Formats: sequence, structure tokens, C-alpha cells
Amino acid sequence: MSDKQQGFSSSFGAIMAAVGSAVGLGNIWRFPYIMGQYGGGAFLLVYLAFVFLIGMVLMMTEFVIGRRSQHTPAKAFVYNRPDRKGWRFLGYLCVFTCLMIISQYVVLSGWTTNYIVDSATGTLASLQTSEIGTHFSNFITHPWLPVMYLIIFTVITAVIILGGVQKGIEAVSKVLMPVLLVLVLVLCVRSITLPNSSVGLSYLFSPDFSKLSGEGVLAALGQALFSLSVGMGTMIVYGSYIPANDNIFKTAMLITASDTLIAVLAGVAIFPAVFSFGQDPASGPGLVFQVLPTVFNSMGGIGTVFAVMFFFLLALAALTSAISLLETIVAWLCESSSVNRYKSTIIVTLVVLAVGSVCALSDGLLSGVKILNKSIFGFVDDLNSIYLPPICAIGTVIFFGWQMKKEDIIDELSNHGALKIGYFKAFYFLVRYVAPIALLVVLFTSIYASLFPNN
Ligand code: PFF
Repeated sequence: MSDKQQGFSSSFGAIMAAVGSAVGLGNIWRFPYIMGQYGGGAFLLVYLAFVFLIGMVLMMTEFVIGRRSQHTPAKAFVYNRPDRKGWRFLGYLCVFTCLMIISQYVVLSGWTTNYIVDSATGTLASLQTSEIGTHFSNFITHPWLPVMYLIIFTVITAVIILGGVQKGIEAVSKVLMPVLLVLVLVLCVRSITLPNSSVGLSYLFSPDFSKLSGEGVLAALGQALFSLSVGMGTMIVYGSYIPANDNIFKTAMLITASDTLIAVLAGVAIFPAVFSFGQDPASGPGLVFQVLPTVFNSMGGIGTVFAVMFFFLLALAALTSAISLLETIVAWLCESSSVNRYKSTIIVTLVVLAVGSVCALSDGLLSGVKILNKSIFGFVDDLNSIYLPPICAIGTVIFFGWQMKKEDIIDELSNHGALKIGYFKAFYFLVRYVAPIALLVVLFTSIYASLFPNN
């Protein structure tokens, strides 16, 4: 039996691996700053609705498509609808989306890896507040440092993939996810025991609907999909590894709840500390790399320990997510060619290193190169946030709701009749109507907003 057909060895392992995929930079780096931007608690309420009504539903569709077919996206759609071969293109698009996302993801993960080193060696601690921003921009524009850290991170990811589905992905996730939870809890305790932490908590949780614009609502849905790793086929591949007698609904519910909990805890670990030291909470993407080092420095000597802990937490979260992205592409290459898993991993890793390095240099050596008036990183970021994931997600829900046989879906969700699926009607309605409409609105509105930024 090949490693792929073997799948995960236990329900716990399957859940840890999928939580590992879901919990990533999206939870710890992105969620807190966009929640800060769009009204704290108000954003959280909308986010929760999207996560459970659309994100979790999409995760279940991917699990069904994957587990039923035992294939990667390139073959999974057509397996479930053999008379419509054209759906394989949606599979290819999912794999391409994973390649684009991981190429950008390893850049940010490389920055994180560098920040572990910089905090452990005392470099960050030695900086004055006014130097922290310059330190960050010097690093990202450096001619080779971002590439070096990207290579380190990507090679670690690849080594785990080489270990296989059970001995690599599952084994690592079973250890790293509990470690991650402990780290985030320790940081939460530190943050809420600082003076004035209640200001940060109320910023985070008291809903300010005046800051929740239409843009905030769109951001909430985009973030819900990205955070749950849905809409790009990753959960189709992990679905094909889920044990046959696992309850797909319960599994998806647990993963969704854990992912959301970690995102909220990350907010609790960050905002009270940011307020306590008088920093700017709405400082966008720079929150983690520019504001937090200032916060850690203000804590005195012990701040270094928390800084190392924080960036280590961020890197662990990024690692298990990068694993799932790389695995999707590797599994696809193994399935659609005669190349074995070992060679597939090497080939895909080299491609990711090449595309990732180009992205990593886009602020430095390649800063003069523009695609459609954007830097390379900005262009890939647009592809990854505006175009590719929503298009794949829309394709997936339309396929599932309107092309796949209803009996097949019921058969898979109920484990061939063994489980009661009282939720089915509501679920099917969400997949057929609510999810496609919401996703189409997001797609068109964000395309419009990116083409006409001033309207
Ligand atoms: N869910 C990950 C995060 O929140 O950082 C990102 C991600 C991983 C997106 C895997 C998509 C994916 F397939």
C-alpha cells in the first residue's frame, strides 16, 4: 500500500494535522491586526458567522470530495463526476493556487525564522524603539538574508514531508499542536497580567460597529477561508487521508472551533500588551514585526524570553500550514506522474524555493521589477487574496452542490448509513445557495475595489 493510500493512522492524528494546516500565520499574524482594524468585537461576530456558516461548510465539502475519491484535487472532482472531465481543470487550479500561496507563505515564514534568531541573540533587544522599523526594512530589503531564511524554513518543511503522511505530517502535528497551545496560553497569561490590560481586552472584544465597513465584512469572509485552509484543495488531500469511520461533521467542527479559538487567543496575547506599553494597535501588517518587538523590549530582560517564545510560536504555526500546502502539490505530482514521493518532494521544493525567492527579493534586489504596476510580492498577494482562492472556492461549492450526486454526499457524510445526519438539509442549502452567492459577492467586490481603489 502506498503512503498516500495509508492516510492518517487515527482520528486524533487527522484532527491535529488539519488543525495544524488551519492554524498558521493567518491566525497569529493576520487575524489580530485585521480584527484591530475593523472594529474588534464587531468584526469577531461577523467572522464567527462566516467561519461556521461558510468556512466549515466548505471544509466538509472538501473532506467529502477527498475521502470519497481517495485522490488529490486533480482527479478528485472527476472521480465524483466521471462524465464531466472538464472539472479536472478546477483541480489543477487548486494545485496552482497552493503553489502561489506557499511561495508567499515561505517568505513571511522566513522573516519569522529570522526574528527567532534576532530575539534569541539579543539583536532585537539591543535596538532603540526608533531603530526597530529600520531594522525590519533593512532585513526585508537585504540582498540575500530573506532568501537564506526562506530556504531554511522550506527545507525543514520538506524534510517533514519526506517522512511521509503518518511518520512525517501526523507525527509532527501531534507534538507541535499541543506545544503551540501551551505557548499561546503562556503569552496570554503574560499579556493579561500586565498593567492596564483591560483596555486591550475591551478594544478586542467590545464591538464597535462604526469601524466595521463593507470592506471589513469582505475581509472577514476572506480571512475565514484563508484561516481554515479551505478553497484551494488542501482539505481535499487531507480529506483523502481521514480514517473511513470518522464523522466528517464532527471533525470539521472541532477543527473550525480550534482554529477560531487560537486566533482569538492570539489577539488576547497581543492587544493587552500592545496597549499596556502604549503602542498603536491598528498598525496593520507591521503589528507583529515592528510593534511587538517594541513591546517585548519594554518588558526588560524577561522580554527576550517572551520574544523568542512568540516568534517560535509563529514559526511552528507557519510550519504545519506550509506542510499542508507542500503536501498538496507533492501528492498531486506523485499521483499524476510516475515520479515517486521522494523525488516529487525534491522537485516541488525546488520550484517553491525558486518562486518564493523571487517573492522574497521583491523589496530588495528585484524592487525595480513591476507586474501590472505592483511589486512582485504585491502581485502575488493580489492573486492570493483577491483572485485564486475565491475562484477555487466558488468552483468547489458549485461542483459539490450542483454536480455531485446528492446520494453520494449523504452516503459519505453518514459513513454509508452508520451515522445520523440531521444537519443535512441546512448544510445542503448553505452549500448550494448561501456559499456560492457570498463568495461571488466577495470575488466581484474585491476585483472592483482593486481595479478602482478610489471609489
Ligand atoms: N490556514 C493557514 C493560516 O491561517 O495561516 C494558511 C493556509 C494553509 C491557507 C494552507 C491555505 C492552505 F491550504
